[in-house]
Amino acid sequence: MRVLLTGGAGYIGSHVAVTLLEAGHEVVVLDNFSNSHPAVIERIAQITGKQVSLIEANLADKAEAEQALQNVDFEAAIHFAGLKAVGESVEQPTRYYRENLSATLNLLDILKAKDVRKLIFSSSATVYGEPEDASVGLDENHQVGVGITNPYGWSKAMSEQIITDAQTAWPELQATILRYFNPVGAHASGLIGEDPFGIPNNLMPFVSQVAIGRREKLYVFGDSYPTPDGTGIRDYIHVVDLAAGHMAALEHSTPGVSVYNLGSGTGHSVLEVVAAYAEASGQAVPYVIAEPRAGDLAKLVANPSKANRELRWQTRLTLADACRDSWRWQSQNPDGFGAGSSPEA
Ligand code: WQD
Repeated sequence: MRVLLTGGAGYIGSHVAVTLLEAGHEVVVLDNFSNSHPAVIERIAQITGKQVSLIEANLADKAEAEQALQNVDFEAAIHFAGLKAVGESVEQPTRYYRENLSATLNLLDILKAKDVRKLIFSSSATVYGEPEDASVGLDENHQVGVGITNPYGWSKAMSEQIITDAQTAWPELQATILRYFNPVGAHASGLIGEDPFGIPNNLMPFVSQVAIGRREKLYVFGDSYPTPDGTGIRDYIHVVDLAAGHMAALEHSTPGVSVYNLGSGTGHSVLEVVAAYAEASGQAVPYVIAEPRAGDLAKLVANPSKANRELRWQTRLTLADACRDSWRWQSQNPDGFGAGSSPEA
């Protein structure tokens, strides 16, 4: 199958590109490199021995995106393109809504005009807001929206609604919404991985920069949560497992809107991640306890049984695997995709 990956040069998109190419699919990446690096395209080719077609365009600009995709044929689209920094979304809500919703709206119009019927959307467990009962893994029937604390999360929930309404109006559309828990790790080659601009927002990239000595210490956001060690618990999923989940979703795509959690079903605390990373890297990961971060939850873990059952997909890699692969990527590429390409904020 020929698959369009919007935002395909980003962290998750690039790993999905590798998985699809290795399985014999063809990949077209559309990206404007606003939060990614052109060098990733060569790295994908290096890993797979195959070329991706690259279209440099901004999906949020309708005229630009339509023109860029005018003569491009594809049978399915996986929609990753969007802004994703939670804190920034609180400071720049109109920018987040404009960019993320425009991208989704424009893609839907383009798919309809081209009669491309398969769409997979990169959503987030953040759409569940405040869990009704955090002691169990959240399943896809959990309410959406209540307790979302930031525009980034709302833009994902709104995009899900937009896709659902578009499918009602166009019943042939086969839409799959994938709600990711916490993607971590890197490709085992060490050639691609997460390379955030500026100060990392997320735990594992921050820890990896502490391990390599780029940052002095980790700030653990709160140690008084009602969890065994007091630090927040999340469901960390290796990005290569996550990529396999996208391929499974593509291959099982059916008419209608299907929603799947992509997570492991197992939770780990911040201190467990720190210990696992120190073990995998052989480096010290100094940390201090800091104030809790606004909007953070004590615990968010997936119930992934629907994806296990219907997509015949499950995670295979562990937190230790993710730490090992993240460290290989970080230590082989201390400056990410290129010296000077990751400006310090
Ligand atoms: C994990 C745990 C923090 C950084 C967010 C978004 C979600 C998705 C992924 C992406 C928490 C703690 C973190 C640090 C820390 N979005 N932490 N010190 O908050 O579960 O999810 O990112 O595109 O939608 O909400 O992930 O990695 O930021 O935090 O102690 O420097 O690590 O408090 O318990 P989160 P995270």
